[in-house]
Formats: sequence, C-alpha cells, structure tokens
Amino acid sequence: MRQAGRYMSEYREIRKKYSLLEICKQPELAVEVTLQPVIAHKVDAAILFADILLPLEPMGAPFSFEAGEGPVVHKPVRSAADVAALRIIDPEEGLGYVLEAIRGVRRELDGKTPLIGFAGAPFTLASYLIEGGKSSNYAIAKRLMYDEPEVWNELMSKLSEVVRRYLRAQIEAGAQAVQLFDSWVGQLSLTDYIEFVQPHVRTILSDVEKTGVPVLHFGTGTDHLLEAQRDAGGTVIGVDWRTPLDKAWKRIGYDRGVQGNLDPILLLASEPILRKRVHEVLERAGGRPGHIFNLGHGIIPQVPPDAVTRVVEMVHEYGIRPTPATSAE
Ligand code: CP3
Repeated sequence: MRQAGRYMSEYREIRKKYSLLEICKQPELAVEVTLQPVIAHKVDAAILFADILLPLEPMGAPFSFEAGEGPVVHKPVRSAADVAALRIIDPEEGLGYVLEAIRGVRRELDGKTPLIGFAGAPFTLASYLIEGGKSSNYAIAKRLMYDEPEVWNELMSKLSEVVRRYLRAQIEAGAQAVQLFDSWVGQLSLTDYIEFVQPHVRTILSDVEKTGVPVLHFGTGTDHLLEAQRDAGGTVIGVDWRTPLDKAWKRIGYDRGVQGNLDPILLLASEPILRKRVHEVLERAGGRPGHIFNLGHGIIPQVPPDAVTRVVEMVHEYGIRPTPATSAE
C-alpha cells in the first residue's frame, strides 16, 4: 500500500523541494523515499516509490497532480481515434527511471528487506484515462464500456500489454514481488467485471505468474468480486476491510494467499481499539501461512506516524511469524 507519503515528516521535507513526479523520475530520490517507511516503521517489505499513472505519459497521455484535485489527465481518451493514438511502450525506454530506482533500492536493502514493485490494473488506469481524473460514479468510463465495447476492449488490451511488459521489466530489474492495483474495480457489478475486465487481467497475470515471483492482486470494495478476481489470477488476493478476512479466505481457497485487511482509518483511533482490531485480523488469519498483514487501502495524511510504527510492532509481537531459526529446524 502507500506506506510512504504525506503523513511522514521525512516525506514532506522532500516534497517541499520536489513534486511527486520529480521524486518518481529521479531514482536517487525515489530510492530515498522508498526506504523511509522501512527505516521509520521496520515494515517487513519495501514498496517501490512510484505511481500507477506513470505509464500514461510515455503512452501519450500526459497528466499532472493538481492540489486538492488529485491526478488530472490533460486530454482524456474517449474515442476510437484517441485509443489508436496510444503507444504500447517498451518499459526500458519509457519508464527506465522506475527500473533504475528498483535496482537502486535493491542495492540499498542488500537482501535484508524484500522489495515489492507494482502497476495499475487496466480498469483502474482506464478509469483515469477516460474520466480525466478521479470520479465518483465512473459514468464516462462505463458508458464507453457498455456502448462501445470494441473501443473499450482495444483500450484494455493496450493497457494490459503495457502493464504485462512493465511488471516483467520490474521483476527483471529486481522486484521480489509485484502488486497489481485494481483500486476502483469494486465499482463494477460481477457481470460487468467478468465481461469487460477479467479476461484482460487474466492475460496479464497468467504471463507474469510464469516468472515464479509472487503476484499480489489488489482491489477495494471487492466483496462481490473476490472469486472472480481469484479466477483472474494472483498468488495473493487483497481483501477489502469490509469483508471479514476468514470468510474471504475460505471463499478464495487456502491454495492462495490473502493480504489485508485493517481499515486504514483505524490508524486514527486510540491504541486499545487499534490493537483490538489488529489482533482481530491476525486471529481471523488463524496462523495459516500465506497471510500478508496490511491495511485495506492507503494511509491518509492525518495519520500520526507513530500509529503505523505501533501496528508493525503489534503484528510482530503477536508472534505467529516463525523466525528464520525455528523455520530452519
Ligand atoms: O508506499 C509508497 O511508497 C507510495 C508509492 C505509491 C504512490 N502511489 C505514490 C503517491 C503507490 C503504491 C501508489 C499507487 C497509486 N497511485 C494507486 C493505487 C493504490 C491506491 O491507493 O489505490 C492509485 C489509485 C494512484 C493514483 C494517485 N496518486 C492518486 C489518486 C493520488 C492523489 C491522492 C491524494 O491524496 O491527493 C496520487 C498521489 C500520490 N501517489 C501520493 C503518493 C505518496 C500522494 C502524496 C503526494 O502528493 O505527494
């Protein structure tokens, strides 16, 4: 999840001097920010500092982050001609700075903490491209999906090919797991997911899983989609915080891992309730191997960094994670 960010003073210091995109595009800065939560909170894995939208610019759809508005795509993609103009990029050329940051983080972490790379899933990327930014109802994207399915499928195919290449390139550069962020896919009904999204996600994941590197398949608001997301692929399926983890895992099947699922807003609650809910997630995981403790979504800027450090400690203290010494016996 977004573990670096505005809730951390170290991050805000760097953001005084550089924009978000400048940090992403300068590997030394991206490496530094990637390491901030590892140093501050002692998390078990680093997540690369980048953004899911980065591939859009080299594909031919530049965007910027506007204060208070989030991402804005300068010329939204809404017609067959707009889709035809998008380029299927070579990640080394268009996104070489991300791959360079991965190599740099791996050097710095020196095998002590694993690094997770990531990309946006085609639906979530398409929603930004078509809407031109954030949306509450995805009306423009859904209309295109329903009424111009050929244009929709062409756009999804292009995005899928870029994401497939990009995730493979990240793995080659040294990412030890990769996460596919389908953050907004919960907006779709099961019928629409199966018809308009699942085949594209399956194309990406069936290929990336051949590398043998774990693939985390993430979404929010996905209670109704869990089985369909599992069928699309992923070594580990992200579980929304509104679904009890044990019920989700049973539905997904114990042959897959699960990730989640603390409500990120609990980081604002007092310590006893926070601890209770952290323990509840761990109890629902039941000590089975294959649970990655995580928040259900990103950390909001109001969160006190101490709460994050405490959650990491709570998970470690819970004590069901075998230490290297005991697991070697
Ligand atoms: O943990 C880390 O080290 C952070 C790396 C990271 C970022 N974006 C940097 C970022 C990751 C994993 C992402 C993924 C991302 N980006 C997603 C998928 C995950 C999710 O949260 O659903 C999405 C949908 C985006 C698109 C995006 N980027 C939005 C909607 C915004 C604006 C949000 C806001 O709060 O204004 C961003 C900006 C962004 N990307 C920030 C960070 C740390 C906010 C901080 C900043 O502006 O400096």
